[in-house]
Formats: sequence, structure tokens, C-alpha cells
Amino acid sequence: MAETRYASLIAELEEEYTQRFARSAQSDARASKVLVDGATHMARYYTPFPFRCQAARGAYVWDMDGHQILDFWQGHYANILGHNPPEITAPLAAAFADRWGLQSGFPDELEEEVGTLIARQTGAERVRFTTSGTLATMYAIMLARAYTNKPCILKVGGGWHGGQPWALKGVSYKGDAYSHLESEGLPRSVEGEVMLTRFNDPEELTTIFRQNGDRIACFILEPWLGAGGYIGATPEYLRIARELTAKYGAVLILDEVIAGFRFRAGNLAALYGVQPDLMTLGKIAGGGMPLAAVAGRLDIMRLVGRAGGRRVRFDGGTYSAHPATLLAAKAMINHLVNHEAEIYPYIAALGEKARRGIEQTFAIHGIVARCTGDANAVVPGSSLAGVQFPINGKDVLDCPEDTQNPAKCDIVLRERVLKLGLLLQDVNVAHGLGAISTAHTEADINRLIVAVEAVAARVARA
Ligand SMILES: Cc1ncc(COP(=O)(O)O)c(C=O)c1O
Repeated sequence: MAETRYASLIAELEEEYTQRFARSAQSDARASKVLVDGATHMARYYTPFPFRCQAARGAYVWDMDGHQILDFWQGHYANILGHNPPEITAPLAAAFADRWGLQSGFPDELEEEVGTLIARQTGAERVRFTTSGTLATMYAIMLARAYTNKPCILKVGGGWHGGQPWALKGVSYKGDAYSHLESEGLPRSVEGEVMLTRFNDPEELTTIFRQNGDRIACFILEPWLGAGGYIGATPEYLRIARELTAKYGAVLILDEVIAGFRFRAGNLAALYGVQPDLMTLGKIAGGGMPLAAVAGRLDIMRLVGRAGGRRVRFDGGTYSAHPATLLAAKAMINHLVNHEAEIYPYIAALGEKARRGIEQTFAIHGIVARCTGDANAVVPGSSLAGVQFPINGKDVLDCPEDTQNPAKCDIVLRERVLKLGLLLQDVNVAHGLGAISTAHTEADINRLIVAVEAVAARVARA
């Protein structure tokens, strides 16, 4: 229905966009002849086609048509220091000039240094590296199943843990629930072994554990939902998740691929006072390079090693613990540790300014917009934000069942109209906004608000 309501506005926006990004349109047409849908990652794709990036620095990217675009996607939220920050590129350039950087295939001291940094900043007893968050969550689940000798995985409806079999159930909202498989070609066991629960619903979690505790190997969740709508776990929910997993002998896996190093120079769960059994890290921790890790309790992690009989084959990965990747991770983590007191309040203040500014700007035009991503009782500030448009203006929309449900939230306005409308003002957002980096300034947020104003006025007119 919403699609029809905006049909002529979307057609206008697409027409303007296609003209404005003409060279990208040509590149997209060529790409579509060799790449499926002209793309590699559908999170980077939108209709009619994504612009082609040619350079990226700080808060901005430059495209093939010569636009300078203010960016809040920031490398899938990995670039907390902005695009290509000198803090990371300088040590990489120096290393490459001195016989170091591409894969050597030998262990090196950096591996130990970055492992030590991660363990120190997260309270983990052991760390193992891999190349993507997807692989990290897969290995964490394998560890949990082997450790507990139980088959089932409990995850949150709307939670995204990468494109691996146990994570490909209940990610996108279909019909009126999160209960379906996301893909064909999965092992048949996924259907029955992956169970779903509502985020921030301690009563349902308690019931599920009471009824199925003897079968649940792990509960995997993000302490701060990313794709599900930028919503923080309530302190009560994480506390109960910790208590129930301990009581029923399940492994608590906190997926901090987005949250890790986003709210402090370490894992977010530390702010909640919750220590998971295992955590997964990626994005920011890799400093813009493909590094991910599983980190956690020694008695679980040892299953991958000799002392644990190598019961879990957390192995492979020609490019795992890649030298340049470790160098970027070391530079990033050290920078965040050394500047923690300035960085996190700064990006959180900009996040707050953006959230309130967006809401007020839409309100002026009679449109109710509610930003998710707000701080809570234990997380003092947040640099993430999504924009939700409640169909019923009074609805709060604070769970994935609401933010992804077209009957409750105007998803077309968020994902198509706002996205294209802002791109026409040279501003790039994800799900309404995205992530703030240290490269963003107050002036950038003001510029964002001016662009939002133009879109809001256009929507109001339409
Ligand atoms: C919470 C979470 N877990 C896991 C992943 C998968 O990580 P990757 O894309 O590095 O495979 C993502 C990616 O967006 C994520 O947001």
C-alpha cells in the first residue's frame, strides 16, 4: 500500500537519480553483465542502482560523477574513524614500503599483540582470528554445540549474524513473523534446530528455556541490534539471558560484530556488566580490513586446540590473521584505547544531535519520525541511529517485529524515499541514518538536517 502511495514520488526520485548519477548508471549496466545483479553484497545495493565510489576520506566519499557525498554507512559501520584515516593508512603504507603486509603464511608477533589487546579490552581468556563476522558466528556456534553436546541454537527474530547456515533463519520479516528460512540450499536440520525469540522479551526467553533448556546449545544475540533496527538490549534482558544460559548449561554468545568498539574501546557487554561465554568481533576491530575473531572462555575455546583434542575444526583461512589486517587492527584498537575518553562522548553527542534533529525536521512537516539508537540506563551514548516512521503515530517501534513490519512502520518511506531523496542532496544513509564516525562534525550533522528538510518537504507535498 505504501509503495502505491509513493509511486509517483519514487518514480520522480529515480528519474532524477538516474540523471544525476549517469556514469554510475553506465557502470552498473556493464557490471550487470558480469556480476549477478551488478553487485557482490546486497546490503550495498538499492534501486535503481548504487552509485560507484571512486575515493573515500573522512566523512565523505566521491563518486564517478564527481559528487562529494556525506556518508553515514561508513564501510558497513566499520569506519569509526571515518574513511581511510591516516591513523591506519600511515602504518600500512610504511609496512608495505618495508617488505611487510601481504600474506606471509607464518605466525608473527602482531598476531600475539592484537590477541592480547582484544583479550585485555574484552575480558576474554582466549582469542582466535578469522576473516569475517559470518565465519566467526559459525565457529562460535560450532564451539557451543560441541561444548554442550546439544543441538539447538536460539537466536533473536530479526537478528543478523552473517550468511552462514545457522544464522539464516528468521532474519527478515515475512507475513507476520520471523520464523522462516532465509535461503534455499541449507542443511535440513536448520529448520528444526534454530529456534527464535523476541528481542528484549525476558518472559518469552524464560519460557523457551524452561521448555527447551535441555536442547539449547547456545543463545546468540547482539547486545545492540544492527540490521534489526539499531535497538539496544535492556539491561534486564541481558542479565536474564546471562542467568538463563548459565542455569540451563547453554553458551551465551554475544555477537559484537557491530557493537564491539562502537560504544567503548572494547566489548559493549562490559557496560552492561555481563560477561558472555563467547563473543564475536569484526568490523571496527579490523580497522577497515577483513579481520574477525571469536573470543571467550578458555574451557570452550580450548576445543579448537591440541589440549582440547581439536574437537572443533576452527581452521582454514589462507588469509586469516593476515599481516596487513592485523596491523590495521592494532592501529585501530590502540587508537581507540588511547583516545577513548574523547572519541565515544564525541560521536555519541553527534548521534544524539542527528536523532533529535531528524525527528524535529520531519515533525515540522507533519510527519512522525522516531529515531532508534538512543542511549539507555547503562550505555551513556550512542553513535548509531535508524529512522522509523510509525504508521500509527503513537507507536514507539522499539523491536524488530515493529521496525520491519510494513503494517506498523512505513518501510518504503525509510528505505526508498528517504534514501534516494537524501542521495539527491549528496548524503548517503543506511536505514534512515547509520553510524557516526570521529570524522563527522557538527557542520556535517547540520548539513544532514538541511538535506532531511528538503526530503521531508517533498514528502509532505507529495
Ligand atoms: C551483528 C553482525 N554479525 C555478523 C555479521 C557478519 O559479518 P561479516 O559481514 O563480516 O561476515 C554482521 C554483518 O553485518 C553483523 O552485523
